[in-house]
Amino acid sequence: MKYRSQAVAYWYFAVAMGLFGLQVAFGLLAATKYLGPDPLINLVPFDVMKVIHTNLLVVWVLTGFMGGTYWIVPEESRAELHSVKLAYLQLGLWVVMGVSAIIGYFFRWGAGTKLLEQPLPHKIVIVVVMLMFLYNVFMTIRRSGRFTTTEGVLLGGLFLAALLYLPSLIPFDNYTLGTFYRWWTIHLWVEGCWEMIQGSMLAYLLIRLTGADREVMEKWLYVIVGLVFISGVIGTAHHYYWLGVPEYWLLTGGFFSALEPAPLVGMAIYAYSALRRSGLAHPNTLATHWTVGSAVYTMFGAGLLGLAHTWPTVNKWTHGTLITPMHGHAAFFGAYAMIVLAMITYILPQVCRDRGDEGRPSDYWAFWLQLAGMFGMTLSFATAGIGQVYLERIIGLGFLETQLKIQVHFLMLLAAGTLFASGVGLFIWNFFRYRPTFDHVVTVDEPGAVPRAARATA
Ligand code: HEM
Ligand code: HEM
Ligand SMILES: [Fe+2]
Repeated sequence: MKYRSQAVAYWYFAVAMGLFGLQVAFGLLAATKYLGPDPLINLVPFDVMKVIHTNLLVVWVLTGFMGGTYWIVPEESRAELHSVKLAYLQLGLWVVMGVSAIIGYFFRWGAGTKLLEQPLPHKIVIVVVMLMFLYNVFMTIRRSGRFTTTEGVLLGGLFLAALLYLPSLIPFDNYTLGTFYRWWTIHLWVEGCWEMIQGSMLAYLLIRLTGADREVMEKWLYVIVGLVFISGVIGTAHHYYWLGVPEYWLLTGGFFSALEPAPLVGMAIYAYSALRRSGLAHPNTLATHWTVGSAVYTMFGAGLLGLAHTWPTVNKWTHGTLITPMHGHAAFFGAYAMIVLAMITYILPQVCRDRGDEGRPSDYWAFWLQLAGMFGMTLSFATAGIGQVYLERIIGLGFLETQLKIQVHFLMLLAAGTLFASGVGLFIWNFFRYRPTFDHVVTVDEPGAVPRAARATA
């Protein structure tokens, strides 16, 4: 930790960890409901569980992005944060917003728009928080006068994410119209500006963990951002196929969204080639696992599994079935959960004196259990989804009859989910077991691939 104000990041990550744990608990509860009969149906039905599960996801990932930014910006701009107080005030408001939104969902107080269910007062608080956040970061950079490409892409992504949240504030009486504009936020977030955030965090981490050349990494970053936008913006139309828009969207949506895996393959290649150059030379091999893992898993979950059902000829069968959460889980976990966990594992040894750089065996267990569990969950949703498409959409069985016939896949989902949850539990335990001391000062600017021996004697 080079700047005192970077300590703020730790508290954002601590909140993110708590919400991550809750998100997974609600996910498991939602999954049990596929098996029925549901004794809690009147108290906490499936839809309420799903709303809480997915909204907690969005909130903890954004908390992680904000924490990561508060860590990265001082280092990249070589200056303390403009206002630490403002950063804590922002976190406080954010937590109050998040917790009260969850309580509200239990009472069905929400906007009803998937993934953006926050009621209007909460949405306004979110906008205020975003403004406080961007102001703080902007002032830090302005005062320091130093601005890197990595930081620019990160802030560009955050700014666009805030901007694209605004359409979700408009209430629509017409459900189709509401759904049309919902994708401006959701699709352009996950397949546009959030990828910029992931890409820049990846560049930040790879430069430090593998000693990769900053200039080379940042050139790659430009290429990736360019490809994301060329493919992702018109690619939005892969959500418009069955929404009543003119037919040419089938072709344009299909074509451009099929190009979307290109930047994701690019990210995986650049992470892997950076790794090959340095091996696991940096002592924090755990962070290297999460960093490279994020790039590779994104290629699988978002790139490959997104491509699998983005063709109109496939999507007409799979749309809105269990094939969607198959892809949603693998993509979200690989791209956004894993990159936040990578940032956390990178900073923890710098914040907690007693936490060694190399991590303990249980840290690696937490990594592999989550990976194996998420892979199993992805396969469970995939097999359930294929069965569902065949029975319900091809043979013509009813929805509930089909659900009964695919129970075995839900059992597999629960087993894999339990494996995954134990990995998450271990990660969270390992996060909180060390007291933050904030006194571990790293003096090397960009340590890069400093050999273990050299670090040990430094
Ligand atoms: C990191 C990037 C990505 C994430 C986090 C992500 C996540 C998601 C999520 C959560 C949904 C469900 C949304 C909802 O119904 O509200 C979804 C739907 C979809 N995604 Fe992605 N996605 C990503 C990238 C991609 C890519 C690159 C493609 C195509 C190559 C793709 C293709 C699709 C399609 C076609 C659907 C609609 C499924 C349906 O018709 O039911 N996604 N994605
Ligand atoms: C033990 C772990 C988990 C379990 C058992 C679980 C279970 C579920 C279930 C049952 C649903 C509802 C699917 C439906 O509509 O039928 C769901 C939705 C979703 N979950 Fe999870 N989940 C878990 C962890 C996660 C994690 C770690 C992430 C992301 C990093 C995630 C992201 C999502 C998303 C994006 C959706 C909405 C997908 C869609 O509507 O297509 N979940 N989850
Ligand atoms: Fe999309």
